[in-house]
Amino acid sequence: MDHFIYRNGVLHAEDVPVSDIAAAVGTPFYCYSAATLTRHYALFDEALAGTDHLVCYAMKSNSNLAVLKLMGDLGAGMDVVSVGEYLKAKAAGIPGERIVFSGVGKTRAEMRVALEGGIRQFNVESEPEMEVLNDVALSLGLVAPITIRVNPDVDAKTHAKIATGKKENKFGIPISRARDVYAHAATLKGLDVIGIDVHIGSQLTDLEPFELAYLKVAELTRQLRADGHDIRRLDLGGGLGIPYERSNTAPPLPIEYGDVIKRTVGDLGCEIEIEPGRLISGNAGIMVSEVIYVKSGEDRDFLILDSAMNDLIRPAMYESHHDIIPVTEPAAGAEPATYDIVGPICESGDTFAKERTMARLNSGDLVAFRSAGAYGAVMASEYNSRPLIPEVLVQGDQFAVIRARPTFEEMINRDIIPEWL
Ligand code: LLP
Repeated sequence: MDHFIYRNGVLHAEDVPVSDIAAAVGTPFYCYSAATLTRHYALFDEALAGTDHLVCYAMKSNSNLAVLKLMGDLGAGMDVVSVGEYLKAKAAGIPGERIVFSGVGKTRAEMRVALEGGIRQFNVESEPEMEVLNDVALSLGLVAPITIRVNPDVDAKTHAKIATGKKENKFGIPISRARDVYAHAATLKGLDVIGIDVHIGSQLTDLEPFELAYLKVAELTRQLRADGHDIRRLDLGGGLGIPYERSNTAPPLPIEYGDVIKRTVGDLGCEIEIEPGRLISGNAGIMVSEVIYVKSGEDRDFLILDSAMNDLIRPAMYESHHDIIPVTEPAAGAEPATYDIVGPICESGDTFAKERTMARLNSGDLVAFRSAGAYGAVMASEYNSRPLIPEVLVQGDQFAVIRARPTFEEMINRDIIPEWL
């Protein structure tokens, strides 16, 4: 459920007509609903009720400072994957003891910043990384709390570019080697080995892969404890999928996911962490765009929008589907039309949807891309010298620009022409 609904014939974000925001900030823009973000966080928190747990929001999905602040105020931790994310989480007021640091390629400099600034744990992904982290911690006179990310070799049954839990993927250490790697880690004085980490992929629409992975983690926990390790924390990753198409069957709910967690690892007495991103932010955001032209091709009609693949790259990159709806509610029984929906960028990949049947639209009409709150703004670029589009947060009947559209001057002045040229 989200808070983008038609009222009096106009799409609203909570209590604000989307057309009012468009008039105030111009198109295209991203718009997020605070109530939806709050609700989605609460669903995970409630799903793990009765366990000692921390929901660490995967901020890579939407890292606007206002969104982070909202999450932090709700009590969320953060899953960060770069020093930039770490510093943004800190800037939004999240204390270090609620920040977990994931990622396959952490540098010494990143480790140093996180160790000095305070960190809940590093999720270590390889033996070389383990050695380096040990080194950095010792050089600072500190001990780094770590989990080791294991790769359980489970098929997440999702898009190949976002599956991470098969042995051919670059993530984690093979679970078959885990006991050796933990034994090695235990000899390193700069590390405190506290738990196990796993993340098998994103946009999972089936609970079975989670169940298989978590059963393997449970078994490993028992083995490692028998080997003498004090395993007391399990980071179970993120990845629960969202409904991108209203017409399709919905993926499992957080409460069902929580049941899988309780069933598989609930009896181990471990503190549980999860790292959901998409399910919290995805359906809490839309991207609003204006139709520039309706163009008749030889065998099809094109809706040419003022947003493009640089603003929302998911359809071009993963062939992903986003529902695209008119901001003005179509009249009941209005005759539909079929369009290829495209942006103005000079390549055919700049296509949002093919043969989409929807209400008939005209130049100047507004449309909203649903499910654009996750991996939307954060993956945007200025390709074709198109300035990054603004982000707006709505709460009840108020809205605020939470990232302004840069001026052309700001964009141009970022580049430097050397004196000698
Ligand atoms: N934890 C780790 C270690 C991750 O790598 C990810 C996502 C998450 C948590 C959060 O997963 P979520 O709950 O959001 O599924 N750009 C792609 C998605 C990439 C996901 C990368 N890792 C997309 O637009 O679909």
